[in-house]
Amino acid sequence: MTGTSVAIASKYLLQGKVVGIPTETVYGLAASMYQPDAVKRIFDIKNRPVSNPLILHVADLESLEPLVKEIPPQALQLAAALWPGPLTMVFNRSERVPDIITGGQSTVAIRIPAHPLTLELLQTVKQPLAAPSANKYNYISPVTATAVEEMLGEEIPYILDGGPCQKGIESTIVAFRNGELQLLRQGAYTEMELRKVTGKRIVQEETDIRHPGMYKKHYSPHTPVIVMNEIKEVVNKLKPMRVALISFFNPYDHITVERKVVLSPKASLEEAAQNLYASLYQLDKESYDMIIAEKLPDTGLGRAMNDRLSRAAVPY
Ligand code: TXA
Ligand code: MG
Repeated sequence: MTGTSVAIASKYLLQGKVVGIPTETVYGLAASMYQPDAVKRIFDIKNRPVSNPLILHVADLESLEPLVKEIPPQALQLAAALWPGPLTMVFNRSERVPDIITGGQSTVAIRIPAHPLTLELLQTVKQPLAAPSANKYNYISPVTATAVEEMLGEEIPYILDGGPCQKGIESTIVAFRNGELQLLRQGAYTEMELRKVTGKRIVQEETDIRHPGMYKKHYSPHTPVIVMNEIKEVVNKLKPMRVALISFFNPYDHITVERKVVLSPKASLEEAAQNLYASLYQLDKESYDMIIAEKLPDTGLGRAMNDRLSRAAVPY
């Protein structure tokens, strides 16, 4: 069932059930951290390996404190400037955080999401909520309650409908190592936005912790996706294959594929991010033989989108 009642969502969570929740990035599949069976259910519903850790969502810094060993000064800076918002930070975890959340690692990923309904829900349940994106493992993340209903509706009792996700792409994930900020996943906050807050460059080193960058095939529709730097007329020769094209702002009028989606006619990366997963999901339902996606400019949010597209794509 889908609805807008925080009271119903909260009741199910406290009963140890798994519930769909809206966030500003993508929809989440939530369970209370204190309900191990419900957390286990999340992995079952998603077909996700238990070694892949979950993000905890909390309402405020006060609720975060008991979950971590310490809060690095840079994390406090980032929290003050960017939370609630699409930033996930990785901390050394306290004893309170169950192994099932962290995949047995000594760290835990936490964020304060910026969606009013989910903040209200967190304040009501007064417990951290573990929530990965509400999709099957490796599939595209849902950005509307309807998409969650279609993907997982039969497996969960309630989806809290908070409207379409404002950002449309997952949170940026960072970790702190030896006083440096490490980027573990590109996301809805750009590197520039993080850098403005900390005044420091962000390193992208290989780490031994398990993080999203390790999972190469991800975020992918069932339809084969090909990413191209520019769309050339040779694409017209792909007929009789049924091809759909996703471009940034260019309508590619001289290309004659069966279906075209322009992510942002006004060339806004923010708007394109809002539409990316929704478009991939819609095209996947229309079952083309192939989706051709134009690579986005490799700056700002374009980088996060290119990261997702490259993981959705088949090599060609
Ligand atoms: O925007 C988001 O972050 C959404 C919404 C629902 O909050 N959530 C989300 O969760 O994208 P998920 O599970 O689909 O992706 C979280 C990623 C996982 O791939 C996992 O590898 C990484 O976060 N992660 C979780 N705990 C971690 C940890 N302790 N260290 C490093 N990476 C971690
Ligand atoms: Mg995910």
